[in-house]
Amino acid sequence: MAHKITLIPGDGIGPEVTQATVRILEATGLKFEWETFAAGAEAFEKYKEYIPKELTESIERTRVGLKGPVTTPIGGGFSSINVELRKRFELFANFRPIRNLPHIPTRYSDVDLIIVRENTEGLYSGIEHEVVPGVVESLKIITEKASTRISRFAFEYARKNKRKKIHCIHKANIMKMSDGLFLRCSRNVSKEYPEITYGEHIVDNTCMQLVMNPYQYDILLLENLYGDIVSDLCAGLVGGLGLVPGANFGHECAIFEAVHGSAPDIAGKNIANPTALLRSALLMLRHIGEADAAWKIRSAIDHVYRDRSKLTRDVGGSAGTAEFADAIIQAMELPNSVAAQKV
Ligand code: NAI
Repeated sequence: MAHKITLIPGDGIGPEVTQATVRILEATGLKFEWETFAAGAEAFEKYKEYIPKELTESIERTRVGLKGPVTTPIGGGFSSINVELRKRFELFANFRPIRNLPHIPTRYSDVDLIIVRENTEGLYSGIEHEVVPGVVESLKIITEKASTRISRFAFEYARKNKRKKIHCIHKANIMKMSDGLFLRCSRNVSKEYPEITYGEHIVDNTCMQLVMNPYQYDILLLENLYGDIVSDLCAGLVGGLGLVPGANFGHECAIFEAVHGSAPDIAGKNIANPTALLRSALLMLRHIGEADAAWKIRSAIDHVYRDRSKLTRDVGGSAGTAEFADAIIQAMELPNSVAAQKV
């Protein structure tokens, strides 16, 4: 039976990395029925809606999305489609595993961090207004419900996956009420998980600590804005934005997307690295119960990164997006034992 997946290629490098990822997914032999939709500026041109009704209905039906990045205009224009999708489907948990790939030179090897970011509120509530000319107010919304929900997600994940530590990252010394509430909720939830060590760090110090010694952390639990910023910092620890995957989980559905954006500086040149979206697709495969196919692709990724001859420019190679995808597909055809030996 084919898996029905809502596919949002996005814009900028989105269509390139999505096409590469879809080709690799189909080469596993699994059957997919893609329901493909534009979002953002491209959708507006066609449907006069930034998130077409058909896209919303598709996600309600399939409950699983694979999404490329969508550009958000800076300092004006329409609100972020990414933020809107997360809010619309209550995709409250943004999950981002940060791990090295073989043979990518980085300051630290064997980094293994998980970022759990609250995805629906904080400063991303998008409530801004001009109080008087020259004075603008932007509201940071923190609720007990959402803070408890994301804390529970982090602790449940830690328990199920035998992770040892969770740090709640905050700025409650300055934002005493909003970050104070977030902190209190995560502290309360932590009491139900005595086997998991719980710590609290202020966000600016956390950035310095991550750069100096990322091994001291295991799972980072953050509200929306800090999660966004710290994710990019962590991507830098393991080789850059071209590598780091992500998933947005809700109770009803999930959308899988890379940490990176639409990278307009390299769009349309066939040089973007599709690894981040591909690794997001591996999270998707596990979510839909296709762990074997995920493992097959994972072995092929390790093989191609060890071999180094077909890597994209951002990680020191010269291959194009499509050529990298071809190399992954070829590596998937190797007998399992050969791929595994080389992992
Ligand atoms: P970006 O992540 O698009 O790019 C930052 C840098 O990383 C650029 O130099 C880019 O070339 C590089 N990069 C990113 N992905 C890469 C890949 N796969 N392979 C090789 N290099 C890669 O961040 P930026 O420039 O701040 O944002 C551009 C647009 O993307 C903005 O409109 C922003 O709002 C949007 N955005 C969308 C996201 C989403 O759809 N989930 C997430 C983040 C940003």
